[in-house]
Amino acid sequence: LSVAIHPDSEVASVAVARTMAELIRIRQAEGRTAVLGLATGSSPTRVYEELVRLHREEGLSFQNVVSFNLDEYYPMPPDSLQSYVRFMHEYLFDHVDIRPENVHIPDGTLPQEQVAEFCRRYEEQIREAGGIDLQLLGIGRTGHIGFNEPGSGPQSRTRLITLDHITRTDAASDFYGEENVPRRALTMGVGTILEARHIVLLAWGEGKAAVIKRMVEGEPSDSVPATYLQKHPRVDVVLDEAAGAELT
Ligand code: F6R
Repeated sequence: LSVAIHPDSEVASVAVARTMAELIRIRQAEGRTAVLGLATGSSPTRVYEELVRLHREEGLSFQNVVSFNLDEYYPMPPDSLQSYVRFMHEYLFDHVDIRPENVHIPDGTLPQEQVAEFCRRYEEQIREAGGIDLQLLGIGRTGHIGFNEPGSGPQSRTRLITLDHITRTDAASDFYGEENVPRRALTMGVGTILEARHIVLLAWGEGKAAVIKRMVEGEPSDSVPATYLQKHPRVDVVLDEAAGAELT
């Protein structure tokens, strides 16, 4: 893991957006697609705002971008306030020129008997796109990446999971009460994430300091699935000072 501690999340987010824009432009010049793995939640919002600014003010085009989102609550209608489909459109897709057919987000509306086939197909689509070039990640207080909660192994693939109690507590305010937070979610697996060529994990604020320490300094184990990132050759851990405060 390569760890960078920035003075604040603003500076850090702008730097991450620049890295993503560079990848998109290099691929464009080569006449190729850039395949992005995307995350939702509070951590990447400023990165997406900066990408929108680069599109509007500096001519960054998303015509050659193919995206795969990490996860979605299950069940979840796409037009719901809390859906990750809605989140992605609100923060990024509605403001840039990405082709709608290039956007992939796990489908929270499927009947349960179709979920396994959907997940298998999601993995296949990632492979057909050429694999993920850059995967953006946040991290949950449980040590989850995507929604790979404790117990998720390094070989896990895209699947339906049960959300951890702490994760549901953290999502409670978005859903106006924990009882309204879905109990399950669809997520890429740890194994799926580890196949990305470059991984950029973002964490801001003192609330993430303890889990960042466990991720960076702990032994790889299912109890903190993010520790499996230690096995990947190219992971940038991008922190603000508060999130990095417990690192030794
Ligand atoms: C979201 C996702 C989650 C979040 C994590 C941190 O797509 O995969 O792993 O990245 O729960 O969430 P925030 O950024 O809201 O603290």
